[in-house]
Amino acid sequence: MRLHTPKVELQAMAKPLSILFVTSEVYPFAKTGGLADVSYSLPLALRELGHDIRVMAPKYGSISERKNRIHEINRLRDIPIPIGDTESYATVKSSSINNPRSKVQAYITTNSNYFDAKKGFYADPATGLDYPDNDERFVFFGHSVIQTCMLLGWVPDIIHCNDWQTGILPALVRLKHNDLFAKTKIIYTIHNFGLQGDFPMKTLTKTGFSTGDSDALSHKKKVNFMKAGIHFSDCITTVSPTYAKEVLADQKLSNGLSDVLKTKPDRMVGIAHGVDLNTWNPKTDAYLTKKYDKTSLEDKAPNKETVLERFGLPVHHDKRVPLIAMVTRINDQKGIQLILDAEKDLFKKDIQFVLLGEGDHSFYPKLEALAKKYPDKFSLRIEFDDELAHLMEAGADMFLMPSKYEPCGLNQQYSLVYGTVPIVRSTGGLADTVTDFDKKTGEGTGFVFKDYTAKAMLAAIDKACKHYDVEEQWNALVLNGMNEDRSWGRAARQYSELYRALMKDML
Ligand code: GLC
Repeated sequence: MRLHTPKVELQAMAKPLSILFVTSEVYPFAKTGGLADVSYSLPLALRELGHDIRVMAPKYGSISERKNRIHEINRLRDIPIPIGDTESYATVKSSSINNPRSKVQAYITTNSNYFDAKKGFYADPATGLDYPDNDERFVFFGHSVIQTCMLLGWVPDIIHCNDWQTGILPALVRLKHNDLFAKTKIIYTIHNFGLQGDFPMKTLTKTGFSTGDSDALSHKKKVNFMKAGIHFSDCITTVSPTYAKEVLADQKLSNGLSDVLKTKPDRMVGIAHGVDLNTWNPKTDAYLTKKYDKTSLEDKAPNKETVLERFGLPVHHDKRVPLIAMVTRINDQKGIQLILDAEKDLFKKDIQFVLLGEGDHSFYPKLEALAKKYPDKFSLRIEFDDELAHLMEAGADMFLMPSKYEPCGLNQQYSLVYGTVPIVRSTGGLADTVTDFDKKTGEGTGFVFKDYTAKAMLAAIDKACKHYDVEEQWNALVLNGMNEDRSWGRAARQYSELYRALMKDML
């Protein structure tokens, strides 16, 4: 007879929970950043633990209904939604997210004015500026979530909200519909404290809350959706243990919300993401020119050639020139300024550098000028291209993430899986997932620098380039990263345990 039942089995035997995972973007429908990847892989990993989990997200104008098999359901048509004194209508459609083993039901909120008519998710792609009605758009989305539960007669055990776009939902649930959701626990995951959804105080009238509730909903004299999320949720998580600590300690990083977090003792948990190995795996990745694994590292080379060709950079056959890649939102958080500051010393080196991403338009001319000045070394694509992102993970030798701050970061983890050595700043999730290479012991998976300066970044790049010169020693470092287990299982189990503790009021 077995005396101990392993924890994993216990969990599998426990009663499954019903969970509604609410997000503003989910891969493959819509992606601007890591949130979309998490909103895809975490629900699927939780499904695989046996839970009844469903995902809900808005349908922006750029999402194709046909391609994504989004279709209407009778019960969820033309649902009236109050916004201030007016009424709009949501039609919630059905689809699913899938991997080869599992399927998760998705509900997609549609509305022509708020979502369909706009191609961008949060900002107008033409100008890079936020849509002026973002407050209404996400209040509308929040209402549509509640109405969907009501019309389906499905009151989940857990509502899992993400980032500022869904921050108003916990307030709507607790202030307006608490009878129905009295037993439902709300968990709020903050992927980035840098964007809090702050709006002028007059937004309050659009939410339908009374001025008596304005303290809980506002911060620094503005309506703040993230503050509302923190205030009205039963548990707050963020996306890595180090970022959780940093945010609690540093008022600047949290824009002053650390104080609000501190009123909820022991309720701020940091759980780092895993990698979805169905989507991000060099062994099976259909986007690659040549697939490879730990035993065929030489097959990274054809991918490198493709990347260089796509970016219009020369292919060097006569010498080893490291290719550094960045796939990133182009903004201050991601350390773009350090690239600009490092320009002279960086491009003195015998390197090639490719950058893919979009974001803050003010950086575009500066980066374009670099590409013009160093046409054989630096090339830039200002766009979002998932296929090219996969190719770059495979084809590059090094992956640079010099972030000012980084809640978790997924690309450094994809890089480890693809045998592309990350060069990262020691902050947030980067510090939790990459270890600095130690030449003496041969341990470590990347190159880590501390200070947010061009000098510190250049020193790390230098170290990486020197190490790259000797192929065998470089390959040993590459294998350190590829040998680590980065699957989602660990993180999904942590969330599952958290849900169960919440249900038992054990937090
Ligand atoms: C945000 C954060 C990033 C994190 C992602 C998913 O994009 O900036 O660090 O990995 O959300 O949680």
